[in-house]
Amino acid sequence: MNPLRSLILAAARNGATRRLVATAPVSRDVVRRFVAGETTEDAVAVTRRLVDSGLAVTLDHLGEDTTDTEQAEHTVRAYLDLLSALGPLAAHAEVSVKLTAVGQLLDEGLARDNAARICAAAAEAGTTVTLDMEDHTTTDSTLRVLDGLRREHPWVGAVLQSYLHRTLDDVLDLSGPGSRVRLCKGAYAEPESVAFQEPVEVDKSYVRCTNALLAGSGVPMFATHDPRLVRIIGERAQAHGRPPGSYEHQMLYGIRPEEQLRLARLGHTVRVYVPYGGEWYGYLMRRMAERPANTAFFLRALVTR
Ligand code: FDA
Repeated sequence: MNPLRSLILAAARNGATRRLVATAPVSRDVVRRFVAGETTEDAVAVTRRLVDSGLAVTLDHLGEDTTDTEQAEHTVRAYLDLLSALGPLAAHAEVSVKLTAVGQLLDEGLARDNAARICAAAAEAGTTVTLDMEDHTTTDSTLRVLDGLRREHPWVGAVLQSYLHRTLDDVLDLSGPGSRVRLCKGAYAEPESVAFQEPVEVDKSYVRCTNALLAGSGVPMFATHDPRLVRIIGERAQAHGRPPGSYEHQMLYGIRPEEQLRLARLGHTVRVYVPYGGEWYGYLMRRMAERPANTAFFLRALVTR
């Protein structure tokens, strides 16, 4: 892995660095480029703007690695509040949930029960939930929770990461009727015992998983900004006889916004992943690790304030 990327991902998990950066007078504009704001109202306002421009949305209440039940409860309540505030926007906006934000590191059962409350509220609002995927130590647990949740709500989706060696098998397990799989490359620092280290290997795995998802009978959700992969997804979808609308393109809020609109204008469903809330540090650090230009932008903003 690129040394700068490893360094930034290590900082993303370091408590002292987290406190230093999170309390620095970071420009609102820097965080706002990637994060919708801190409140439910901010999240709803950004969702409305994106939906009005022809995009769909998935909302993530920021937070992860919670080791305290009160914090997990706070996160669940934030999702319940958001889902009831969406109103008619729920036809175009779902939520994404990190299980470690709702108690997975404390107890898998607690995380499952909390996620089930969010799923019940999503069903009531008329929308869906997708489980984010975190580092590989949580993958089995997340897939077990997914399986439990899908017994009551078959529409619950999950993220799979093409950098993991295991992912093609997971894709094949999850590509049946009604499944919703969001395929991404993967954003954590993972050892070579479990993950491809070379970008070209991660991309090849992404294409293998793309073919398997398109050949399956679920709704594949292709989460990538990579122009080459976006083109390959289009070509493979045609080869599999998949019309636009039978799969989704997904990108992060603030990244390649013109490309999001271009694909939507071509008739594709494009869903934007919109994070909001006060716990932006880990999320933002992973975005920095993906692109040195973002890091320079962020550091410049830190020192000029
Ligand atoms: P890659 O990083 O190789 O970038 C390809 C090109 O895209 C770049 O050359 C540039 O043009 C553009 N680009 C990419 N990142 C950019 C950035 N930060 N700023 C500006 N331009 C950028 N990961 C995970 O481990 N678990 C998860 O649950 C999720 N969930 C998720 C949901 C959605 C909707 C998306 C889009 C992504 C995720 N991810 C994720 C993150 C994912 O694993 C990955 O780290 C990022 O999407 C970056 O990888 P790309 O496929 O975009 O390609």
